[in-house]
Amino acid sequence: MPESRVPRRRRYLVCEPRHFAVQYAINPWMHPEARVDTELAVEQWHKLIATYRAYGHTVETVEPVPGLPDMVFAANCAVTVEGKVFGSLFHAPERRPESTHYETWFKAAGFDVYRPESVCEGEGDLVPAGRWILAGTGFRTTREAHREVQEHFGVPVIGLTLVDPLFYHLDTALFVLDEENIAYYPEAFSPGSREVLGRLYPDAVIATREDAMAFGLNSVSDGLHVFIAPGATALAEQLSERGYLPVPVDLSELLKAGGGIKCCTQEIRS
Ligand code: ARG
Repeated sequence: MPESRVPRRRRYLVCEPRHFAVQYAINPWMHPEARVDTELAVEQWHKLIATYRAYGHTVETVEPVPGLPDMVFAANCAVTVEGKVFGSLFHAPERRPESTHYETWFKAAGFDVYRPESVCEGEGDLVPAGRWILAGTGFRTTREAHREVQEHFGVPVIGLTLVDPLFYHLDTALFVLDEENIAYYPEAFSPGSREVLGRLYPDAVIATREDAMAFGLNSVSDGLHVFIAPGATALAEQLSERGYLPVPVDLSELLKAGGGIKCCTQEIRS
């Protein structure tokens, strides 16, 4: 018998992909020579937003800025815990200007924003998971940033090393299902990090490479509903068996930049 799951209403910050494009390559999914249909990206993104709202979540938007094609990936701009905002400092010079635009939004919404000293890509690599924060490193966010995050929030930070360039952000290899559990793709992590995850989450949902390649680990869960890429069929099946309700949302056009559902979604935790 699957356990009964309880959804919690969330507050999400997003940014319309009006200026979305693949103009540079900063991860292996990006091919600037390939055709990108910005209109389709906008359409798929609006479906995601409508789905969040249909399930009772609050969605707020940052105005997109021309010349910042990756700004749609709102998750990378910050991580918020108990009403505190820890901003971003992007690894790629192309993305650095995004931080200020998000900072402006947070300030107008009444938040103070901490500016990191080390490279740090928000919820892309920093994943609040109940009593601690899971923190990826290896490609983008640095170990120094992990220390800054722990010092800022006073919450234990568990460092995890990513080893496969296809899964360059923690949120491409792992997502939080609820306060107690996660789903992840073990091969994206170093042996030691895999062992850490095994100790912390003996009951985790383990995804296959196919699930990971379909961006199934870039999902958003409200504790019951899991907004998930439609290609991650084996993972969705496992989630159903565990009592979660997978809600497929297709962002195939945004995958051309190496982004998916979670990348587009910044959760504001109060
Ligand atoms: N093109 C973007 C980058 O490489 C994609 C970011 C995806 N965001 C995420 N949270 N994984 O930075």
